Amino acid sequence: MSAPVVRYLTGITTTGTPHLGNYVGAIRPAVQASRRPGAENFYFLADYHALIKCDEPARIQRSTLEIAACWLAAGLDPDQVFFYRQSDIPEVTELTWLLTCVTGKGVLNRAHAYKAQVDKNAAAGVDVDADVTMGLFMYPVLMAADILLYKAHRIPVGRDQIQHIEMARDMAQSFNHLYGEHLVLPEAQVDESVALLPGLDGRKMSKSYDNVIALFAPREQVRRQIFSIVTDSRAPGEPKEVEGSALFQIYQAFATPEETQQLRQAYADGISWADAKQLLFERIDREIAPMRERYQHLVDHPGELERILQAGAAKARGRAAPLLRELREAVGLRNLATAAGSGRKEKARAALPSFKQYREADGRFHFKLVDAQGKLLLQSAGFASPKEAGQCIAAMKQSRSLPPAGQAALAEGVAADQVTQALQALADSGN
Ligand code: TRP
Repeated sequence: MSAPVVRYLTGITTTGTPHLGNYVGAIRPAVQASRRPGAENFYFLADYHALIKCDEPARIQRSTLEIAACWLAAGLDPDQVFFYRQSDIPEVTELTWLLTCVTGKGVLNRAHAYKAQVDKNAAAGVDVDADVTMGLFMYPVLMAADILLYKAHRIPVGRDQIQHIEMARDMAQSFNHLYGEHLVLPEAQVDESVALLPGLDGRKMSKSYDNVIALFAPREQVRRQIFSIVTDSRAPGEPKEVEGSALFQIYQAFATPEETQQLRQAYADGISWADAKQLLFERIDREIAPMRERYQHLVDHPGELERILQAGAAKARGRAAPLLRELREAVGLRNLATAAGSGRKEKARAALPSFKQYREADGRFHFKLVDAQGKLLLQSAGFASPKEAGQCIAAMKQSRSLPPAGQAALAEGVAADQVTQALQALADSGN
């Protein structure tokens, strides 16, 4: 049997112009990862998210163009992955609403970005809701919809986004709890090995510090920026420290281990800062120059980019639309002609305990037993196949008793005879 497909999903907010820190920290590793076998990869331009931070239409458009061109220039193959623009997928806003209706306000009150603004307002002595739009407040729900819409398993993110993934997981769980197992619970994947690039002043490279090196600026401009990296005042001939040298760290992010070792030696031998900067410029240029051409071509031919994104949207909607149909049906947004009478049947079903089978992101198959009110009674361990999970359920139903220890555990505060009663009720109903 072939291994199960794992789906990875990454969103890129379309504000700003890509810089070297984005390239090393996000784009380059993602493009490499996009070639892994046995996986489906979703990359999208989060332009709805961009509206939360930016109210300048021209900047939104320009940034979407530049970021899309940048990912393609860096080697992302739109035929091998799902590459699309968030706002081309109407299902994402539709799912946002369905999730909104199963998400407690208290959960969103705890979201970091929203809380930071509230805390800032409180500290400044102004209304705590000043500058808080509902867009900021709802940010995690839109993001959960991005993820759940494609049943993504793993979400590669930076530490600052872990909370959002946890929230998406909780929303999926709430939805499934109410309406059955429709959504996959996603997991954050934080890659500690990805380089955090220092900027011109040695702090983390970030637009908010104004210390970035542009990725696809004209060569001369990149050269000038590299020559403005802050160094110490050691003269040519004096040995230099690699420790704490932003120049050295940036070099390392592009160079092979051997090249890095050579620069380390050159530092010890007293290379001049000007020579070291020239080396860094050439090393970066060697990697970026071939991409610059493709980037410039796409930016100069936006119609080509637009066609690529439209094709990507059609492909992505091929997944999103069927799921939305399923979810609309699940929550009761139904064709009235076909739904007649099923309401009663559903009530009868809801009054019974039930088994729910699902698959976790680790690829294993689980089930749980919930009582008529949906309260969790029993939680299984992970099985290698749905068949094994099903056999365990069948054995329980047949024997009306708990499975062997190790296959399942009672939920907190639940006694064994609550489970046997539930099994008896199921047997009595002929289920
Ligand atoms: N919030 C993410 C960021 O700022 C961008 C994003 C939007 C995203 N939707 C997503 C990331 C879904 C991962 C999955 O970086």
